[in-house]
Amino acid sequence: MYNLAIFPGDGIGPEVVREGLKVLDTVASINSITFKTTSLPWSSQYYLDTGKLMTEDDIQSLRQYDAIYFGALGDPRMPPGLVERSMILNMRFGLDLYVNLRPIVLYSEHLCPLKDKKPEDIDFVVVRENTEDAYAGMGGFFKKGTPDEVAISEMIFTRKGVERIIRYAFDTARARNKKRKLTLVDKANALPAQDLWRRTFAEVAKEYPDITTDMAFVDATTMWFVKNPEWFDVIVTTNLFGDIITDLGAMLQGGLGIAASGNIHPGQVSMFEPIHGSAPKYAGQNVANPLAAIGAVAMMLEFLGENQAGAQVTEAIRRLLVSRRIPSLDAACGLTTTEIGDMVVAELRA
Ligand code: IPM
Ligand code: MG
Repeated sequence: MYNLAIFPGDGIGPEVVREGLKVLDTVASINSITFKTTSLPWSSQYYLDTGKLMTEDDIQSLRQYDAIYFGALGDPRMPPGLVERSMILNMRFGLDLYVNLRPIVLYSEHLCPLKDKKPEDIDFVVVRENTEDAYAGMGGFFKKGTPDEVAISEMIFTRKGVERIIRYAFDTARARNKKRKLTLVDKANALPAQDLWRRTFAEVAKEYPDITTDMAFVDATTMWFVKNPEWFDVIVTTNLFGDIITDLGAMLQGGLGIAASGNIHPGQVSMFEPIHGSAPKYAGQNVANPLAAIGAVAMMLEFLGENQAGAQVTEAIRRLLVSRRIPSLDAACGLTTTEIGDMVVAELRA
């Protein structure tokens, strides 16, 4: 029996999470998996109503769950970054979710904005470090609001943090057993501190003689994503660069409507979410595409060791897209959020 925490959050979050849970219910009953859900209230609306944000105790209390399923956060009425930092980022830091796993998979050729790229050309995974870098919040302001103001955001990398994510990425390349290739993406030519990544990568690589290694600078990587996405198998990169390149990666798959992610600490409670945000302009209209949130359910099942159930969800999504019964991934695809969830449910039962 899995104990799951559910965070619907803001905007379209509750709508897409509702569909994800519908799919989870179905695939769980097909595979005789039992689970219990607890819905958690924190969101921008909750803050506006009660003045409450998540505390460190609230975050630590999440350790009682096996996994966390998260919708989206962000509300135009809130100061920028307040809920994002207090929830998403504090969960990543407070639960030490050091892996941000972001698969970039093209399910059907017609969804890809690149000319002549096929599903076999776009099938890789970005392993984004998730607890360090400029996200650590080191820095601050001096003489704020004056003409002499100084603002500092420092990129922090620790040997331990860099080594564990590189090791996870090598293990991922081995487990995928596809091209067995790992690419380190950094900017070591301009940022001397990232030499730590280069040295650690070279050292850990010696333990994985079966994995081919490669390095690319992040600016060039954006070019290769568009020109030769078929070169990639597994990418390991820093927190900030991983954030940026995975939005581009999502577009290669057809858009944010399909891109899912896992915030993982192997063996401990981990959090699964669509990469997209709360899309306030679509909130409450039942038009947002829930496939990214449904894909996050598949990733959560795989994390829990329910690989067959996870693969069934992914296959149902693939079949619906390839057959164009779900014609596109945007809010204007002609199907409602509910209808898409129902179609995945029906496809699982079929
Ligand atoms: C993501 C998001 C977050 C990030 C924001 C909401 C803080 O863009 O998960 O990619 O920058 O990590
Ligand atoms: Mg992002």
